[in-house]
Amino acid sequence: MIDPEKLEYQTGFGNEHETEALPGALPVGRFNPQRTPYGLYTEQFSSTAFTAPRHQNRRTWFYRIRPSVVQGHYKPVDTGLVRTAPHGESPPLPDLMRWEALPDSEQPTDFIDGMITMAVNGDALSQTGCGVHLYQADRDMTDRFYCNTDGECLIVPQSGDLMLYTECGLLSIKPGEIAVIPRGIKFSVKLTDGKARGYICENYGAPLTLPERGPVGANGYANDRDFQYPVAWFEDREGDFELVSKFAGRLYQTTLGHSPLDVVAWVGTSAPYKYDLSRFNVINTVSYDHPDPSIFTVLTSQSDTPGVANLDFVIFPPRWMVAEDTFRPPWYHRNIMSEFMGLIHGIYDAKEQGFVPGGASMHNCMSPHGPEAGVFEKATQANLQPERYRDTMAFMFESRHPFTPTRFALDTPARQNDYIDCWQGLSKHFNGKNDG
Ligand SMILES: [Fe+2]
Repeated sequence: MIDPEKLEYQTGFGNEHETEALPGALPVGRFNPQRTPYGLYTEQFSSTAFTAPRHQNRRTWFYRIRPSVVQGHYKPVDTGLVRTAPHGESPPLPDLMRWEALPDSEQPTDFIDGMITMAVNGDALSQTGCGVHLYQADRDMTDRFYCNTDGECLIVPQSGDLMLYTECGLLSIKPGEIAVIPRGIKFSVKLTDGKARGYICENYGAPLTLPERGPVGANGYANDRDFQYPVAWFEDREGDFELVSKFAGRLYQTTLGHSPLDVVAWVGTSAPYKYDLSRFNVINTVSYDHPDPSIFTVLTSQSDTPGVANLDFVIFPPRWMVAEDTFRPPWYHRNIMSEFMGLIHGIYDAKEQGFVPGGASMHNCMSPHGPEAGVFEKATQANLQPERYRDTMAFMFESRHPFTPTRFALDTPARQNDYIDCWQGLSKHFNGKNDG
């Protein structure tokens, strides 16, 4: 195992990064010369259409030992508990739902076999919406690789560190960090701590990018420089290797006589990256009221409608709360967007009970929600002082498309069927007198 602390990264969101694992492996002055250094093959990898606007265009040139087409036939394999939109197991539901963290898997499982889909939305073949999965693993993917052609994978570890071996190089991530693997990149997941679990958002839509800042200016939120990309790393290994490809909602397996991690050099804008959520520059009120939670957007996948996200990745990080004469928790609301939330650690400020690290909740389009009864009482009675929310890191996958829970999510004993009861204690304070 390579020491995660010793990995090098390139920084800068969406830049045209370039890197070579052997000196001179990267052609100079052209992408596709007649002959390449070291006898490598050239392969262009496009994760946006060729003609996507320049500022949205993502493509990378690989210089590799063999082109990817050197592989066997695909054969379908069991998809287990992985589902893709639309799955037809349930309609989207207006009910508020919440789940405990799932118990440990009884079977030894790697990152692929340990994926369970909780909800999906949109339509993968139309490249809209996303799938939300939980993963857990207690063994490495050994000579086994995964390639998701249905969407990019946003990985949110909740416990246990991961080492991601990708075609572009290595990324190490731990809870509190995230990684994004572009659609179609081959990768393998090894465990640093022997055990890991977390969340995956499979984004069928436009690649995640940084939100605009508007009047906030040139700095703030997630800053470009804090996104870390791998440097080229390759292995020249022959033997029996398995590639599992997710294509149009099904899993297929093919064999290779060599490791697909044979990219010696690459240059381009489409590559996996990682981000440490503690680097998020939190911007919030310093006077009164609670701005919309869009202030906490780390990454966004835009839809065809400006300002309406296919998917936003939003976090609720440690921060100071200073608003005066304000109900500080998230307000009660109804929203056209649909929300799927998870908790990495600590306590989320709207829910002090029942929303646990590794658990999840789902609030669909226009379904009312907000703080549980106890939180309301405390927040309206508190003597407001500046207060630091220290131990917390919740997140939300927010989408314009209502989420459809899977059969598994509906039936699992981890579902809290009494979730709605956390609001039943909200008592009537109205007495007809204006004494507030
Ligand atoms: Fe909400």
